[in-house]
Amino acid sequence: MDVQIWLGLSLEFYFLSMIQCTKVLFGTKVQIKEIDIDTGNVKILVGDARGEMYGMDYDPKYKYMYFTRYNHRTIMRFPYPSDNQVLEKFIDTGKGPAGLAIDSESGHVYWTEYDWHRLRRCDVNGINVVIISSNLQNPFSIRLSLVNRWMYVVERFKRIIKARFNYSEAHGIIDLNTRVDYIDLDKNEEKLYWTTYYHGEFKSASVRGCDVKTIFQTGITNYYQPIDVYGSSIFHSNNKKLFMMNTTQGTTSTALYTDAYRIFSIYVHHQAVKELILNELTSITNVTGGHYL
Ligand SMILES: *[C@@H]1O[C@H](CO)[C@@H](O)[C@H](O)[C@H]1NC(C)=O
Ligand SMILES: *[C@@H]1O[C@H](CO)[C@@H](O)[C@H](O)[C@H]1NC(C)=O
Ligand SMILES: *[C@@H]1O[C@H](CO)[C@@H](O)[C@H](O)[C@H]1NC(C)=O
Repeated sequence: MDVQIWLGLSLEFYFLSMIQCTKVLFGTKVQIKEIDIDTGNVKILVGDARGEMYGMDYDPKYKYMYFTRYNHRTIMRFPYPSDNQVLEKFIDTGKGPAGLAIDSESGHVYWTEYDWHRLRRCDVNGINVVIISSNLQNPFSIRLSLVNRWMYVVERFKRIIKARFNYSEAHGIIDLNTRVDYIDLDKNEEKLYWTTYYHGEFKSASVRGCDVKTIFQTGITNYYQPIDVYGSSIFHSNNKKLFMMNTTQGTTSTALYTDAYRIFSIYVHHQAVKELILNELTSITNVTGGHYL
C-alpha cells in the first residue's frame, strides 16, 4: 500500500544585503550640491560656499566633508552624510589654499598653497600646523594613497610629484609642460588621471609615471576641468556641466547636470547601505513513500 505524506512548510528569512549608493558632490563658488546617480535627484548641501573651492575631500572616520575657500583663505567643513549640514570654519590658512586631501588613518588634513609654493598639514582637530614642503612650484591638486602611503601633487605648469607623506622622499614622475590644475588617483586601479587646461585632454598614467595616454578630449579648452575617477566611472566637468563616462561602454560622456555657475570641484561618494530584505519561503514538500504497511 502506497503512503503519501504531505508536508506544508512556511519559513521566513531576513537578509542583510549591502547596496552601493553613488552620490556626486560638486562645488561652484556659490553652492555645494549633491546628485544621486541612481535617481538623478539634486540636493543643495551648502548654500553659501563663497569662493572658488579648488579642493574637496572626505574624512570617512569622523564623517566630515572638507573644502578650500581660496579667496577667503580658509578651509571649511560640514558633517556628511547628514540631514543637518552645519557649515563650520575648520582653519584660517592665512594663504589661499588650493588642493586638499585627508589622511583619515592618521587624522591629518593636507593642503597646497598655490601662491606660497607650500604644502602644509594639520590635525583633524585643527591644531599642529606644520609645513611639509616650501619649495613647490605653484602646487594645485593633491591626492593620497592611504594604502601605499604615497602622495601625488601637481605643480601646475610643470610636473606631477610622487612623495612620502612626510616628504622624506619626493620625485617628479610625470613632466607636463602645460597647465594642469586637477589630478586624481584611482585607488583601485593604481592609476593617475589629469586634465589639461589649454587643450582639454583627459589623460592617464600608471602611479610610477609610465604609460602616459590621452583617453579622450573633454570638448572644452581654457577652463577649469575638475575630475573624479572611480573604477570604470569617470566624472568630469567642463565649465558648468557635470559629465559621467563609463569606460567599459566606450568613451562617450553623459551629461548629468548643468549648473548656473562654473564647477570647481567634484567628489564622488560611495556608500554601502545596508538593506533589510524579508523573504518568505513557502514550500510544500510531497514525500511519497512506497512502503508497505
Ligand atoms: C618618513 O616616512 C617614511 C615612510 O613613510 C618613514 O620610513 C620615515 O621614518 C619617516 N621619516 C621621519 C623623519 O618621520
Ligand atoms: C558601466 O557599464 C557596464 C557595462 O555595460 C555596467 O555593467 C556597469 O554597471 C556600468 N557602470 C556604471 C557605474 O554605470
Ligand atoms: C505528490 O506526488 C504524487 C505522486 O508522485 C503526485 O501524483 C502528486 O501530484 C504530488 N502532489 C504535489 C502537490 O506535488
